[in-house]
Amino acid sequence: MRNLDQYNITQAVLARMANTPGPRLKQIMTSLVQHLHAFAREVKLTEDEWKQGIDFLTATGHMCSGTRQEFILLSDTLGLSMLTVAQNNDKPAGCTEATVFGPFHVEGAPSYEHGDDVANGASGTPCLVRGSVRSLDGTPIAHAEIDVWQADADGHYDVQRDDLPGAQGRGVLRSGADGRFHFQSVVAEPYPIPEDGPVGDMLRATGRHPWRPAHLHFMVKAPGFETLVTHVFRNGGPYLDSDAVFGVRQSLVADWIEQPDGTYTLDFDFVLNRAPA
Ligand code: BEZ
Ligand code: FE
Repeated sequence: MRNLDQYNITQAVLARMANTPGPRLKQIMTSLVQHLHAFAREVKLTEDEWKQGIDFLTATGHMCSGTRQEFILLSDTLGLSMLTVAQNNDKPAGCTEATVFGPFHVEGAPSYEHGDDVANGASGTPCLVRGSVRSLDGTPIAHAEIDVWQADADGHYDVQRDDLPGAQGRGVLRSGADGRFHFQSVVAEPYPIPEDGPVGDMLRATGRHPWRPAHLHFMVKAPGFETLVTHVFRNGGPYLDSDAVFGVRQSLVADWIEQPDGTYTLDFDFVLNRAPA
């Protein structure tokens, strides 16, 4: 095929992929090419703009490391992560809703017992977190794995700092026989997502702020149930309606209650959806 022009090049690319083995890959690649070409036509992309886009993606790749995932940040800030979560986690009413995973989860965080302090030295106002894990019919789920992670009072996750000897503000617990759990930590505060890379440039260029409302991250796992990846957001704080990564769901907003001694408590119950048989 020669002399392709702006009117027939899309069909030529699709024809070249006609023998893609695997119907799902073929569907995804076909749709990707169609949408990319439609986008370039719609905005009448110039060569300079194409180069700027390539440079942006190159810089995004260069920003990535073992502890920095700029592509996830890009997906999060473009709403692609939350769209993917929303269309794959359509749970029955009453189940705890899912939200974005984010880039700061660490596999193999320290194990803790009920009552332990998962802050482990992270700065912040002390907070007691209590809750339960149960199924939609109210049955307590014993020994569920509760993986929690959060930023410190300055808005940093432990993995964003290079001056720490070990994990802070993260840990794994198991619910008791009654499905309940409790642990100590620090109060969640709003923080900006990392903005010293290309994603930060994109946010500034589009007049956006980088802030996330205060939240705790949870991943809750139990045999026979869908794994829940979610947050609990702090009621009354800023950015609940302008989260930089579009992750807020009203059902996940809870009250952090100040106690007479200046510490806080948070109560939140997780309801897991049964995994398909
Ligand atoms: C987070 O909440 O940890 C997070 C989520 C998306 C992008 C950056 C951070
Ligand atoms: Fe976070």
